[in-house]
Amino acid sequence: MILELKDVIFSYNTRWNRVDVLKGVNAGFERGKVYGIVGKSGSGKSTVLSLMAGITLPQSGQVLLEGVPTSEMDLQEYRRDKVAVIYQSFRLLPLLTAVENVMYPMELRGVKRKEAQKRAEQYLEDVGIPSTAYYRFPATLSGGEQQRVAIARALACDTHLMLADEPTGNLDGENSEIIIDLLRRLAAERNYCVIIVTHDVDVMDKLDVVYRMHDGVLVKR
Ligand SMILES: Nc1ncnc2c1ncn2[C@@H]1O[C@H](COP(=O)(O)OP(=O)(O)O)[C@@H](O)[C@H]1O
Ligand SMILES: [Mg+2]
Repeated sequence: MILELKDVIFSYNTRWNRVDVLKGVNAGFERGKVYGIVGKSGSGKSTVLSLMAGITLPQSGQVLLEGVPTSEMDLQEYRRDKVAVIYQSFRLLPLLTAVENVMYPMELRGVKRKEAQKRAEQYLEDVGIPSTAYYRFPATLSGGEQQRVAIARALACDTHLMLADEPTGNLDGENSEIIIDLLRRLAAERNYCVIIVTHDVDVMDKLDVVYRMHDGVLVKR
């Protein structure tokens, strides 16, 4: 088990009220599989993902990476070294080329520029980006290409845990399929654990395990 949630409780406290979102979530995630998290809008899918991504800590219970609770880790280090996140809106750095976007996490880890560039080009090739697009800016790439660059950047994070919040939310059916097939291949061939929040029924059908967020807990469906 690479990631485990144990009795996770989380509420948002605003000035006016308290929203209890997660009410004792238990779930386990293994390498080599693609997981889905589904559920109604506002049910807490993004919240649970942000706990897994080390953006926040639970008020009670634990998020464990290979047995170590995130509450006992340096969260900045966790976010940089342990987990890669992909978003619906891609979130590539607009003033960096595709290659530079992929180099970025490696440079943060101190990989030398030449070496980072070489590996970045390989990752872009792995996700099916044509070499003519390597040195273009994100704005000149299609949505499907931008998401593939985001996946290449996630590969450059050198972790085995990949989280994605609605990774196909801005893509058409054909591009969604390309992205999901790519994520499935990463899980199968590189032993990644991939966790996807989605509400796309076609996507759900292709996942190994699907959890539904309902009344503040995750249930296997
Ligand atoms: N920063 C926040 N402050 C207060 N309430 C929030 C905040 N973020 C989300 N919520 C509330 O928490 C609940 C769960 O949100 P979220 O995890 O984003 O759901 P989902 O991703 O399933 O749509 C919703 O009721 C939402 O309004
Ligand atoms: Mg959400």
